[in-house]
Amino acid sequence: MNTPHPANIDIRAALAEAEERYRERNPLSLAQHREACTAMPGGNTRSAIHVDPFPLTIVRGEGARLWDLDGHEYVDFLSEFTAGIYGHSHPAIRSAIQGALDEGLNFGARNTIEARFAAAICERFPSIELVRFTNSGTEANLMAVSAARAITGRPKILVFTGGYHGGVFYFRGHGSPLNAPFEFLLGRYNDFAAVETVVRPHREALAAILVEPMQGTTGCIPAERSFLTGLRALANETGALLIFDEVMTSRLAPGGLQEVHGVLPDLTTLGKYVGGGMSFGAFGGRADLMERFDPRRPDAFQHAGTFNNNVLTMRAGLVGLTQIYTPERASALNASGDDLRGRLNDLVRRHGLAMRFTGLGSMLAVHMTDAAIGCQEDAEKGNAELRDLFYFDLIGRGIWFAKRGMFAMSTALGEDDADKLVEAVEEFAQTRARLFG
Ligand SMILES: Cc1ncc(COP(=O)(O)O)c(C=O)c1O
Repeated sequence: MNTPHPANIDIRAALAEAEERYRERNPLSLAQHREACTAMPGGNTRSAIHVDPFPLTIVRGEGARLWDLDGHEYVDFLSEFTAGIYGHSHPAIRSAIQGALDEGLNFGARNTIEARFAAAICERFPSIELVRFTNSGTEANLMAVSAARAITGRPKILVFTGGYHGGVFYFRGHGSPLNAPFEFLLGRYNDFAAVETVVRPHREALAAILVEPMQGTTGCIPAERSFLTGLRALANETGALLIFDEVMTSRLAPGGLQEVHGVLPDLTTLGKYVGGGMSFGAFGGRADLMERFDPRRPDAFQHAGTFNNNVLTMRAGLVGLTQIYTPERASALNASGDDLRGRLNDLVRRHGLAMRFTGLGSMLAVHMTDAAIGCQEDAEKGNAELRDLFYFDLIGRGIWFAKRGMFAMSTALGEDDADKLVEAVEEFAQTRARLFG
């Protein structure tokens, strides 16, 4: 039997103690969790927000603050996994929603807002000439991939280990038996030579390449520009369509990461904050491809959806993109994210810890390793128990983020909030340094 490294014994003991404190601090969330378990499997309807031993229940949000059932206050550094970029109850979003309520919902018809919202999206993202709305990022990816298969008449989709494109496009770890039944080829992220080898026997059958320009869920792992240009060239050579999943990354620059890298996909999928905090997804791209959805054509693709143009999302999304998250604001938020990541990385380096913050702009992820991280396999080398301990320590200090180590900033956060996060990480570094071995 392997004897655990002494440092690991300490980490486990520290983690057990931290979990115990978490239980003691949150009796009402625990009771709520038990009640939820009677009607939902594991008390959960959204896998990403499950936390062991039990998740906290949030009862209120305002600006960049959240409050849980037991009365603790948090600075919201998760921003609903990037969808909550405007903070909670932003006045302009509130009044957009109020305006929608005043004029009535569910028309079963076109409304006056959807075309303006679509135009704002086309203007903003360089490769999107025409766009259609869905209700989630998952659905946007389903439509984009299905369209690519129908247009090319080919079956296969190249995706990447560690990729996440929605509940039926899960390529983290060992993937998911619930994935949509497409014929997937799995490539290694940021390793173009390996990708070419995977694709070589299937070039004639390749319909699409679906890629996040930065893998968000797997730990904010940016794609190297050369990797994206390689994929662009591969799509051109094979006749496959290049699809950028910018559901998360579109917030990282005024025109998304496609603008930053100057690599234009054939189709782009969007979601999250673009809907102003309401349920949202969209897919768009080259006009000659998207025109296949023009219902005036005799051979038009069918794409229905009761809530595709719902007025709550259309109004909130339009106001958010044009009045709040203007190109200037996008640049400013991402600059403050770069600044914060720099401060955090300086801090952990100063303490000599095997720990680092990856990401771009307003999205960050913590990894308990100081090795370079270019793909899921690298991220898996981080110490998962230390990351859990980091979670409980920071939650105990009033910092809200994802247990898997993800942070996303909102426009509601202030300088003081960034200082609070830096202080909390400083305290973690000081009190837990010895556990890093
Ligand atoms: C890159 C990416 N694509 C797609 C999705 C799915 O979006 P939704 O949760 O709206 O279905 C997500 C959600 O986290 C995502 O991060």
